[in-house]
Amino acid sequence: MKIAYRAQTVEPFYAMSFGQRAAELEAAGHHVVKLSLGEPDYGAPPAVREAMCEVMDGRPLPYTPALGLPVLRQAIADFYRDRHGVAVDPARIAITSGASSALLLVIAATTEPGDEVLLADPAYPCNRQLVASFGGTVVAVPTSPATRLQLSATAVADAWSERTSAVMMASPANPTGTRIPSEELVAICALARARGAWRIVDEIYLNLADPEPDGAAVPTILAGDPDAIVINSFSKYFGMTGWRLGWCVLPEALLAPVERLAMNYFLCASAPAQMAARACFTPASLALSEERRRDLVERRGIVVDGLSRLGLPVTVAPDGAFYAYFDVSSTGLDAWQFCEDALERAHVALTPGRDFGTATARTHVRLSYSVSREELREGIARLGVFVAQLRAR
Ligand SMILES: Cc1ncc(COP(=O)(O)O)c(C=O)c1O
Repeated sequence: MKIAYRAQTVEPFYAMSFGQRAAELEAAGHHVVKLSLGEPDYGAPPAVREAMCEVMDGRPLPYTPALGLPVLRQAIADFYRDRHGVAVDPARIAITSGASSALLLVIAATTEPGDEVLLADPAYPCNRQLVASFGGTVVAVPTSPATRLQLSATAVADAWSERTSAVMMASPANPTGTRIPSEELVAICALARARGAWRIVDEIYLNLADPEPDGAAVPTILAGDPDAIVINSFSKYFGMTGWRLGWCVLPEALLAPVERLAMNYFLCASAPAQMAARACFTPASLALSEERRRDLVERRGIVVDGLSRLGLPVTVAPDGAFYAYFDVSSTGLDAWQFCEDALERAHVALTPGRDFGTATARTHVRLSYSVSREELREGIARLGVFVAQLRAR
Protein backbone atom coordinates (compact mmCIF):
# COMPACT_ATOMS: atom_id res chain seq x y z
CA MET A 1 0.00 0.00 0.00
CA LYS A 2 1.30 3.45 -0.76
CA ILE A 3 0.94 6.74 0.99
CA ALA A 4 0.02 9.59 -1.33
CA TYR A 5 2.88 11.85 -2.34
CA ARG A 6 1.03 14.90 -0.96
CA ALA A 7 0.76 13.28 2.46
CA GLN A 8 4.41 12.29 2.43
CA THR A 9 5.63 15.74 1.46
CA VAL A 10 3.32 18.00 3.46
CA GLU A 11 5.26 19.88 6.13
CA PRO A 12 3.99 20.17 9.70
CA PHE A 13 2.59 23.48 10.87
CA TYR A 14 5.45 24.13 13.29
CA ALA A 15 3.42 26.54 15.46
CA MET A 16 1.19 23.57 16.29
CA SER A 17 4.21 21.32 16.96
CA PHE A 18 5.74 23.85 19.37
CA GLY A 19 2.29 24.22 20.97
CA GLN A 20 2.17 20.46 21.52
CA ARG A 21 5.60 20.43 23.16
CA ALA A 22 4.47 23.31 25.39
CA ALA A 23 1.44 21.24 26.44
CA GLU A 24 3.75 18.31 27.31
CA LEU A 25 5.92 20.54 29.49
CA GLU A 26 2.79 21.83 31.23
CA ALA A 27 1.57 18.29 31.79
CA ALA A 28 4.94 17.66 33.49
CA GLY A 29 4.18 20.50 35.92
CA HIS A 30 5.93 23.52 34.33
CA HIS A 31 4.32 26.88 33.77
CA VAL A 32 4.87 27.61 30.09
CA VAL A 33 4.17 31.10 28.73
CA LYS A 34 2.42 30.20 25.50
CA LEU A 35 3.09 32.79 22.82
CA SER A 36 3.22 30.39 19.89
CA LEU A 37 -0.42 30.17 18.83
CA GLY A 38 -2.67 32.84 17.39
CA GLU A 39 -5.46 32.21 19.85
CA PRO A 40 -7.15 35.12 21.62
CA ASP A 41 -7.64 34.38 25.32
CA TYR A 42 -11.01 36.10 25.56
CA GLY A 43 -13.29 33.44 24.04
CA ALA A 44 -16.65 33.96 22.34
CA PRO A 45 -18.83 36.94 23.37
CA PRO A 46 -21.24 35.99 26.21
CA ALA A 47 -24.33 36.19 23.97
CA VAL A 48 -22.79 33.57 21.69
CA ARG A 49 -22.06 31.25 24.60
CA GLU A 50 -25.63 31.68 25.86
CA ALA A 51 -27.02 30.98 22.39
CA MET A 52 -24.92 27.80 22.25
CA CYS A 53 -26.34 26.65 25.60
CA GLU A 54 -29.86 27.25 24.25
CA VAL A 55 -29.38 25.16 21.11
CA MET A 56 -28.01 22.34 23.28
CA ASP A 57 -31.46 21.67 24.71
CA GLY A 58 -31.77 18.24 23.15
CA ARG A 59 -33.29 19.35 19.86
CA PRO A 60 -32.12 17.48 16.76
CA LEU A 61 -29.34 19.34 15.01
CA PRO A 62 -29.56 18.29 11.37
CA TYR A 63 -27.19 19.27 8.57
CA THR A 64 -27.57 22.82 7.36
CA PRO A 65 -27.42 23.71 3.66
CA ALA A 66 -23.87 23.12 2.34
CA LEU A 67 -23.14 26.85 2.12
CA GLY A 68 -24.57 27.55 5.56
CA LEU A 69 -27.65 28.79 7.38
CA PRO A 70 -29.37 31.57 5.41
CA VAL A 71 -29.85 33.66 8.59
CA LEU A 72 -26.12 33.60 9.34
CA ARG A 73 -25.20 34.46 5.75
CA GLN A 74 -27.62 37.38 5.96
CA ALA A 75 -26.14 38.52 9.30
CA ILE A 76 -22.66 38.54 7.74
CA ALA A 77 -23.94 40.47 4.71
CA ASP A 78 -25.50 43.02 7.10
CA PHE A 79 -22.16 43.29 8.91
CA TYR A 80 -20.39 44.11 5.63
CA ARG A 81 -23.02 46.81 5.03
CA ASP A 82 -22.87 48.32 8.51
CA ARG A 83 -19.14 48.03 9.25
CA HIS A 84 -17.70 48.47 5.76
CA GLY A 85 -20.43 50.17 3.73
CA VAL A 86 -20.32 47.39 1.13
CA ALA A 87 -23.36 45.59 -0.31
CA VAL A 88 -22.72 41.84 -0.46
CA ASP A 89 -25.43 39.48 -1.67
CA PRO A 90 -25.79 36.84 1.09
CA ALA A 91 -25.98 34.23 -1.69
CA ARG A 92 -22.28 34.91 -2.30
CA ILE A 93 -21.31 34.08 1.29
CA ALA A 94 -20.34 30.48 2.07
CA ILE A 95 -20.10 29.39 5.70
CA THR A 96 -17.18 27.05 6.32
CA SER A 97 -15.41 25.18 9.13
CA GLY A 98 -13.03 28.03 9.88
CA ALA A 99 -11.05 30.06 7.37
CA SER A 100 -9.00 26.88 6.92
CA SER A 101 -11.86 25.12 5.12
CA ALA A 102 -12.62 28.24 3.12
CA LEU A 103 -8.99 28.28 1.94
CA LEU A 104 -9.17 24.58 1.08
CA LEU A 105 -12.38 25.05 -0.91
CA VAL A 106 -11.24 28.07 -2.89
CA ILE A 107 -7.85 26.57 -3.68
CA ALA A 108 -9.56 23.32 -4.73
CA ALA A 109 -11.90 25.35 -6.94
CA THR A 110 -9.21 27.48 -8.60
CA THR A 111 -5.90 25.58 -8.74
CA GLU A 112 -4.89 23.04 -11.35
CA PRO A 113 -1.59 21.18 -11.80
CA GLY A 114 0.95 23.53 -13.33
CA ASP A 115 -0.74 26.71 -12.11
CA GLU A 116 1.46 29.20 -10.31
CA VAL A 117 0.11 30.90 -7.20
CA LEU A 118 1.92 33.99 -5.94
CA LEU A 119 2.19 34.63 -2.24
CA ALA A 120 4.48 36.60 0.05
CA ASP A 121 7.54 35.23 1.80
CA PRO A 122 6.86 35.25 4.77
CA ALA A 123 3.20 34.18 4.75
CA TYR A 124 0.68 31.89 6.45
CA PRO A 125 2.15 28.36 6.04
CA CYS A 126 -0.96 26.30 5.27
CA ASN A 127 -1.55 28.13 1.99
CA ARG A 128 1.68 26.76 0.52
CA GLN A 129 0.72 23.23 1.52
CA LEU A 130 -2.83 23.56 0.15
CA VAL A 131 -1.67 24.89 -3.22
CA ALA A 132 0.87 22.06 -3.49
CA SER A 133 -1.81 19.49 -2.57
CA PHE A 134 -3.76 20.44 -5.67
CA GLY A 135 -0.70 20.30 -7.93
CA GLY A 136 -0.14 24.05 -8.03
CA THR A 137 3.29 25.63 -7.81
CA VAL A 138 3.86 28.12 -5.03
CA VAL A 139 5.82 31.18 -6.11
CA ALA A 140 7.08 32.77 -2.92
CA VAL A 141 7.54 36.44 -3.71
CA PRO A 142 10.37 38.16 -1.81
CA THR A 143 9.32 41.05 0.41
CA SER A 144 11.28 43.68 2.35
CA PRO A 145 10.81 45.93 5.36
CA ALA A 146 10.13 48.76 2.86
CA THR A 147 6.82 47.04 2.01
CA ARG A 148 6.36 45.89 5.63
CA LEU A 149 7.14 42.29 4.58
CA GLN A 150 4.03 42.33 2.40
CA LEU A 151 3.41 42.04 -1.33
CA SER A 152 3.44 45.14 -3.52
CA ALA A 153 2.13 45.64 -7.04
CA THR A 154 5.72 45.93 -8.32
CA ALA A 155 6.81 42.68 -6.67
CA VAL A 156 3.73 40.89 -8.01
CA ALA A 157 4.37 42.19 -11.55
CA ASP A 158 8.01 41.06 -11.34
CA ALA A 159 7.02 37.54 -10.22
CA TRP A 160 4.28 37.15 -12.84
CA SER A 161 4.44 34.42 -15.48
CA GLU A 162 2.03 33.16 -18.12
CA ARG A 163 1.15 30.35 -15.70
CA THR A 164 0.17 32.62 -12.82
CA SER A 165 -3.39 31.69 -11.88
CA ALA A 166 -3.87 33.47 -8.53
CA VAL A 167 -2.37 35.90 -6.03
CA MET A 168 -2.96 35.06 -2.36
CA MET A 169 -2.62 37.74 0.29
CA ALA A 170 -3.54 38.25 3.91
CA SER A 171 -4.09 41.77 5.17
CA PRO A 172 -3.33 42.16 8.04
CA ALA A 173 -0.98 39.21 7.80
CA ASN A 174 0.35 36.35 9.83
CA PRO A 175 3.28 36.32 10.89
CA THR A 176 4.06 40.04 10.58
CA GLY A 177 0.85 41.59 11.87
CA THR A 178 1.08 44.19 9.09
CA ARG A 179 -1.48 45.11 6.51
CA ILE A 180 -1.08 46.07 2.87
CA PRO A 181 -2.09 49.74 2.47
CA SER A 182 -5.59 49.78 0.95
CA GLU A 183 -4.53 51.53 -2.27
CA GLU A 184 -1.68 49.08 -2.81
CA LEU A 185 -3.97 46.11 -2.23
CA VAL A 186 -6.45 47.47 -4.76
CA ALA A 187 -3.57 48.02 -7.23
CA ILE A 188 -2.34 44.42 -6.82
CA CYS A 189 -5.87 43.12 -7.36
CA ALA A 190 -6.40 45.36 -10.41
CA LEU A 191 -3.18 44.05 -11.93
CA ALA A 192 -4.16 40.42 -11.30
CA ARG A 193 -7.70 40.93 -12.55
CA ALA A 194 -6.45 42.59 -15.75
CA ARG A 195 -4.27 39.53 -16.34
CA GLY A 196 -7.12 37.10 -15.72
CA ALA A 197 -5.98 35.73 -12.34
CA TRP A 198 -7.89 35.08 -9.11
CA ARG A 199 -7.35 37.34 -6.12
CA ILE A 200 -7.63 35.45 -2.85
CA VAL A 201 -7.58 37.93 0.02
CA ASP A 202 -7.55 36.59 3.57
CA GLU A 203 -9.23 39.16 5.82
CA ILE A 204 -9.30 37.02 8.97
CA TYR A 205 -7.57 39.88 10.87
CA LEU A 206 -9.27 42.77 9.04
CA ASN A 207 -11.55 43.76 11.89
CA LEU A 208 -8.61 43.77 14.30
CA ALA A 209 -6.72 46.28 12.12
CA ASP A 210 -5.95 49.71 13.55
CA PRO A 211 -8.55 52.13 12.16
CA GLU A 212 -7.57 54.60 9.42
CA PRO A 213 -6.25 57.97 10.68
CA ASP A 214 -9.78 59.44 10.38
CA GLY A 215 -11.13 56.68 12.65
CA ALA A 216 -12.85 54.76 9.84
CA ALA A 217 -12.64 50.96 9.73
CA VAL A 218 -10.01 49.62 7.34
CA PRO A 219 -11.96 48.76 4.18
CA THR A 220 -12.51 45.23 2.92
CA ILE A 221 -11.02 44.55 -0.52
CA LEU A 222 -14.63 44.01 -1.65
CA ALA A 223 -14.93 47.81 -1.72
CA GLY A 224 -12.19 48.03 -4.37
CA ASP A 225 -12.48 44.64 -6.08
CA PRO A 226 -16.01 43.25 -5.69
CA ASP A 227 -15.03 40.01 -7.46
CA ALA A 228 -12.08 39.16 -5.23
CA ILE A 229 -12.35 35.93 -3.24
CA VAL A 230 -12.43 36.98 0.42
CA ILE A 231 -11.70 34.69 3.35
CA ASN A 232 -12.80 35.42 6.92
CA SER A 233 -13.49 33.65 10.19
CA PHE A 234 -15.06 33.78 13.63
CA SER A 235 -11.74 32.59 15.10
CA LYS A 236 -9.87 35.83 15.73
CA TYR A 237 -12.05 38.94 16.01
CA PHE A 238 -14.77 36.99 17.81
CA GLY A 239 -12.31 34.80 19.76
CA MET A 240 -13.81 31.51 18.57
CA THR A 241 -10.83 29.44 17.39
CA GLY A 242 -12.10 26.07 18.62
CA TRP A 243 -15.61 26.60 17.31
CA ARG A 244 -14.33 26.03 13.75
CA LEU A 245 -16.44 28.53 11.91
CA GLY A 246 -15.52 30.87 9.09
CA TRP A 247 -16.75 32.12 5.77
CA CYS A 248 -15.75 33.22 2.31
CA VAL A 249 -17.26 35.69 -0.11
CA LEU A 250 -17.20 34.31 -3.63
CA PRO A 251 -17.53 35.79 -7.10
CA GLU A 252 -20.65 34.59 -8.93
CA ALA A 253 -18.72 32.14 -11.14
CA LEU A 254 -17.42 30.18 -8.15
CA LEU A 255 -20.70 29.77 -6.27
CA ALA A 256 -21.93 26.53 -7.83
CA PRO A 257 -18.47 24.88 -8.01
CA VAL A 258 -17.68 25.72 -4.38
CA GLU A 259 -21.12 24.52 -3.30
CA ARG A 260 -20.52 21.16 -5.01
CA LEU A 261 -17.09 20.85 -3.42
CA ALA A 262 -18.46 21.83 0.01
CA MET A 263 -21.21 19.18 -0.24
CA ASN A 264 -18.65 16.52 -0.99
CA TYR A 265 -15.89 17.59 1.38
CA PHE A 266 -17.87 18.64 4.44
CA LEU A 267 -21.69 18.39 3.92
CA CYS A 268 -21.84 21.56 6.03
CA ALA A 269 -20.12 23.46 8.85
CA SER A 270 -21.13 22.70 12.46
CA ALA A 271 -24.87 23.41 12.80
CA PRO A 272 -24.88 24.49 16.49
CA ALA A 273 -21.86 26.74 15.96
CA GLN A 274 -23.65 28.40 13.04
CA MET A 275 -26.82 28.88 15.08
CA ALA A 276 -24.94 30.43 17.99
CA ALA A 277 -22.68 32.60 15.82
CA ARG A 278 -25.60 34.80 14.80
CA ALA A 279 -25.23 36.39 18.23
CA CYS A 280 -21.79 37.74 17.20
CA PHE A 281 -23.57 40.46 15.31
CA THR A 282 -25.70 41.91 18.12
CA PRO A 283 -24.74 45.49 19.10
CA ALA A 284 -23.46 44.21 22.48
CA SER A 285 -21.23 41.51 20.95
CA LEU A 286 -19.83 43.94 18.40
CA ALA A 287 -19.17 46.58 21.09
CA LEU A 288 -17.36 43.97 23.17
CA SER A 289 -15.30 42.81 20.19
CA GLU A 290 -14.23 46.41 19.56
CA GLU A 291 -13.22 46.76 23.22
CA ARG A 292 -11.12 43.63 22.87
CA ARG A 293 -9.49 44.98 19.71
CA ARG A 294 -8.43 48.10 21.63
CA ASP A 295 -7.16 45.95 24.46
CA LEU A 296 -4.97 44.01 22.02
CA VAL A 297 -3.37 47.29 20.94
CA GLU A 298 -2.26 47.83 24.56
CA ARG A 299 -0.89 44.29 24.77
CA ARG A 300 1.02 44.98 21.57
CA GLY A 301 2.76 47.90 23.28
CA ILE A 302 4.04 45.63 26.09
CA VAL A 303 5.55 43.23 23.56
CA VAL A 304 7.01 45.64 21.04
CA ASP A 305 8.62 47.80 23.77
CA GLY A 306 9.75 44.73 25.71
CA LEU A 307 11.41 43.05 22.73
CA SER A 308 13.20 46.20 21.63
CA ARG A 309 14.54 46.69 25.19
CA LEU A 310 15.99 43.16 24.92
CA GLY A 311 17.71 44.05 21.62
CA LEU A 312 15.34 41.81 19.66
CA PRO A 313 14.00 44.25 17.08
CA VAL A 314 10.50 43.84 15.66
CA THR A 315 11.31 44.29 11.98
CA VAL A 316 7.95 45.80 11.00
CA ALA A 317 5.56 47.33 13.52
CA PRO A 318 2.31 45.33 13.55
CA ASP A 319 -0.85 47.31 12.85
CA GLY A 320 -3.52 44.66 12.87
CA ALA A 321 -2.95 40.98 13.51
CA PHE A 322 -1.74 40.17 17.06
CA TYR A 323 1.78 39.10 16.08
CA ALA A 324 5.26 40.56 16.47
CA TYR A 325 7.87 39.18 14.07
CA PHE A 326 11.29 39.80 15.54
CA ASP A 327 14.91 39.29 14.57
CA VAL A 328 17.01 37.03 16.80
CA SER A 329 20.28 37.15 14.78
CA SER A 330 22.04 39.21 17.45
CA THR A 331 21.79 36.29 19.89
CA GLY A 332 24.04 34.04 17.80
CA LEU A 333 21.33 31.37 17.50
CA ASP A 334 19.32 30.65 14.42
CA ALA A 335 15.59 31.11 14.82
CA TRP A 336 14.79 27.41 15.15
CA GLN A 337 17.37 26.86 17.88
CA PHE A 338 16.25 30.06 19.61
CA CYS A 339 12.67 28.73 19.76
CA GLU A 340 13.75 25.27 20.94
CA ASP A 341 15.96 26.67 23.68
CA ALA A 342 13.44 29.34 24.72
CA LEU A 343 10.87 26.59 25.19
CA GLU A 344 13.08 24.03 26.92
CA ARG A 345 15.11 26.41 29.08
CA ALA A 346 12.90 29.47 29.64
CA HIS A 347 9.52 27.78 29.14
CA VAL A 348 8.39 30.36 26.62
CA ALA A 349 6.67 28.95 23.50
CA LEU A 350 7.30 30.87 20.27
CA THR A 351 7.09 30.00 16.57
CA PRO A 352 10.19 29.83 14.34
CA GLY A 353 10.32 31.72 11.04
CA ARG A 354 10.70 28.42 9.17
CA ASP A 355 6.92 28.06 9.32
CA PHE A 356 6.42 31.07 7.10
CA GLY A 357 8.85 30.63 4.20
CA THR A 358 12.57 30.65 3.55
CA ALA A 359 13.61 34.32 3.45
CA THR A 360 13.33 34.92 7.20
CA ALA A 361 13.48 31.28 8.32
CA ARG A 362 16.84 31.53 10.06
CA THR A 363 16.55 35.01 11.48
CA HIS A 364 12.98 35.58 12.64
CA VAL A 365 10.62 34.37 15.33
CA ARG A 366 6.89 35.04 15.72
CA LEU A 367 5.34 35.98 19.04
CA SER A 368 1.56 36.03 19.43
CA TYR A 369 0.40 38.72 21.89
CA SER A 370 -3.16 37.39 22.18
CA VAL A 371 -2.64 36.30 25.81
CA SER A 372 -3.06 38.30 29.04
CA ARG A 373 -0.83 41.24 30.00
CA GLU A 374 0.51 39.23 32.96
CA GLU A 375 1.58 36.37 30.71
CA LEU A 376 3.12 38.80 28.22
CA ARG A 377 5.14 40.54 30.96
CA GLU A 378 6.23 37.18 32.34
CA GLY A 379 7.20 36.00 28.84
CA ILE A 380 9.27 39.12 28.16
CA ALA A 381 10.97 38.82 31.58
CA ARG A 382 11.89 35.19 30.94
CA LEU A 383 13.16 36.01 27.45
CA GLY A 384 15.26 38.79 29.03
CA VAL A 385 17.04 36.31 31.31
CA PHE A 386 17.40 33.78 28.49
CA VAL A 387 18.87 36.32 26.03
CA ALA A 388 21.24 37.72 28.67
CA GLN A 389 22.57 34.19 29.25
CA LEU A 390 23.06 33.69 25.51
CA ARG A 391 24.95 36.96 25.17
CA ALA A 392 27.13 36.21 28.19
CA ARG A 393 28.42 33.00 26.60
C1 LIG B 1 -3.89 34.24 7.96
C2 LIG B 1 -4.69 33.09 8.51
N1 LIG B 1 -5.61 32.52 7.73
C3 LIG B 1 -6.34 31.46 8.16
C4 LIG B 1 -6.16 30.95 9.43
C5 LIG B 1 -7.01 29.79 9.88
O1 LIG B 1 -8.00 30.22 10.75
P1 LIG B 1 -9.29 29.39 11.20
O2 LIG B 1 -9.17 29.16 12.67
O3 LIG B 1 -10.46 30.28 10.89
O4 LIG B 1 -9.32 28.15 10.41
C6 LIG B 1 -5.23 31.54 10.29
C7 LIG B 1 -4.99 31.00 11.64
O5 LIG B 1 -4.13 31.39 12.38
C8 LIG B 1 -4.47 32.64 9.82
O6 LIG B 1 -3.54 33.25 10.57
